[in-house]
Amino acid sequence: MEEKIKAFLKEIETFTTEKQQEIEDFRIRLLSRKGQIPALFEEFKKLGGEEKRKYGKSLNELKQKAQAKIDDLRAGASKDGETGERFDLSRPASAGFMGSRHPVNLVKNEIVDIFKRIGFNVSEGPEIEDDWHNFTALNFPEEHPARDMQDTFFVARNPEWALRTHTSSVQVRAMEANKPPIRTISPGRVFRNEAISARSHCIFHQVEGLYIDKSVSFADLKQTLLYFAREFFGKDTRIRLRPSYFPFTEPSAEMDVYWGLENEVDYRMTKGTGWLEVMGCGMVDPNVLENCGIDPNEYSGYAFGMGVERIAMQRYQISDIRYLFENDIRFLEQFHTAL
Ligand code: DAH
Repeated sequence: MEEKIKAFLKEIETFTTEKQQEIEDFRIRLLSRKGQIPALFEEFKKLGGEEKRKYGKSLNELKQKAQAKIDDLRAGASKDGETGERFDLSRPASAGFMGSRHPVNLVKNEIVDIFKRIGFNVSEGPEIEDDWHNFTALNFPEEHPARDMQDTFFVARNPEWALRTHTSSVQVRAMEANKPPIRTISPGRVFRNEAISARSHCIFHQVEGLYIDKSVSFADLKQTLLYFAREFFGKDTRIRLRPSYFPFTEPSAEMDVYWGLENEVDYRMTKGTGWLEVMGCGMVDPNVLENCGIDPNEYSGYAFGMGVERIAMQRYQISDIRYLFENDIRFLEQFHTAL
């Protein structure tokens, strides 16, 4: 009897597993009604009084230790299902959590796709730029306010470098690296030293467009933008071009899309005009062509640039730009179906 109790104690002490099935097998073998420990109790009943006194206590302890060991193993066992039940392969699977695209990417991808369909390729440039690509090549005068510390984040280690303030810098890189015809679209992240509010953020995204070829005209620009507006906002969309100013285009314009002026939301979104400002555009200034090694007597071109967040806010009726940067799952979840 003594030997047997010792052997079981040792087995209980050394046995280990995390598998539910093995724990259960162990329990059945030792403790079930026909298990080895109850069998030992049967043997015990047959012992004489002297021996009963000797082994009664240790036998009870053995049983308790076995039970405690099983409880311990169960607590540390790997859970196969939410209830800790063993695998039931016939159970219906719970649906996995699907991520979704960020609204800024949804809009960016759609813009890029629209231009790809008419032969634009995609180009990218660095987010840390030098003064030449962000400003000088783009015909910004030396004292232009956009170069000011208030607008631009400069790199502390090297003030020659700044975080690009617009994706127009990629225009310059595209022209430096390629011979016309150039038809390219450049999505990317840009940075401005601005106070964060419901309407503006210090980080946002733009999509830049550039077309350089022989005899590209303002009419080409206008028709391309009309095509874009109708693909993106709907086939009956109307646009208008308002004169504007950018150092790198001449003439320059601002493109608006007619949104409507029927209710309070329309009033708020269009500042009471019915028109939504969508992008800046114009004919590439001959100085810019020259700066990038393209002969302005041979080639001409147009460029345009738009803010992705602003368009996303219009499209999804988002009232505060900060929602687009907080990554609050309750906000992002709403775009699940927009994949
Ligand atoms: N770079 C301008 C901005 O950041 C947007 C822009 C305007 C881009 C006119 C262009 C353009 O290419 O032709 O606001």
